[in-house]
Amino acid sequence: MSGVFRVGEAAYDDFMGRYSRRLAPVFADFAGLRGGERVLDVGAGTGALVEALLARGCEVAAAEPSPEFCEALRRRFPGVAVQEAPAEQLPFADGAFDAALAQLVVAFVADAPAAVAEMARVARRIAVCMWGVAEVDMFAAIDRTASVVGPDRLPEPRRYRNAQEIHDLLAPHGEVKAAELDVTGSYRDFDDFWHALSGGAGPAGRWLAGLDAEARESAHAELFRQLGSPDGPFELAAKAVAAAVTPG
Ligand SMILES: C[S@@+](CC[C@H](N)C(=O)[O-])C[C@H]1O[C@@H](n2cnc3c(N)ncnc32)[C@H](O)[C@@H]1O
Repeated sequence: MSGVFRVGEAAYDDFMGRYSRRLAPVFADFAGLRGGERVLDVGAGTGALVEALLARGCEVAAAEPSPEFCEALRRRFPGVAVQEAPAEQLPFADGAFDAALAQLVVAFVADAPAAVAEMARVARRIAVCMWGVAEVDMFAAIDRTASVVGPDRLPEPRRYRNAQEIHDLLAPHGEVKAAELDVTGSYRDFDDFWHALSGGAGPAGRWLAGLDAEARESAHAELFRQLGSPDGPFELAAKAVAAAVTPG
């Protein structure tokens, strides 16, 4: 199954953007990016990282294979060069960038080693990050719900979701620096959470969209229970594993 996201930007932002917008400045800090550097955002999605890079004065380009997301990127960031392209075939010259970053992307790419090799070809420094398995409260609650309600959420991308796999992915390209990046997602209430999941974004959204009416009702009740029956606003924690290299 292709990992290219074919969902509207609003559904993506509601479901994942509320986390990835908070992750982006933390990831950019980890990658050591400074104003004036030329940076490529690979698998840019709706632009959470683009926005953080522009805010620190970087010169930004974006590559993203989803036509819907490319349209959103061009509208949101008119000064950014957006290429509709997969990470495995980046349409840029060797050494065109100071850095290439992929935030929450490598698990969705068909050939992650080829993608990282392309990033190392076009940039002097590269950095990637992915959510850790079971280290994102939202996904853990959905997984527990799926195991109660069924069907199981597998198969879905579970590769490159721990520090060792992320390290090994980048190791062919230089000495690896690793970190764990912690953020939270904020919800007004359980309805806000349920609405975000109901948009069909990502593997978790597709799991919910595949349930019949009865299973969906059970999932609603079970998820509410799994999240501690929140009565008002709540926050969920999410931890990403990150790695960076400066190719020799
Ligand atoms: C979880 S989203 C992350 C989006 C964005 N980087 C963010 O942090 O919000 C994963 C992104 O990877 C993109 N993707 C899937 N396959 C890809 C590939 N082969 N090359 C580049 N991006 C890909 C998807 O279309 C989607 O935009």
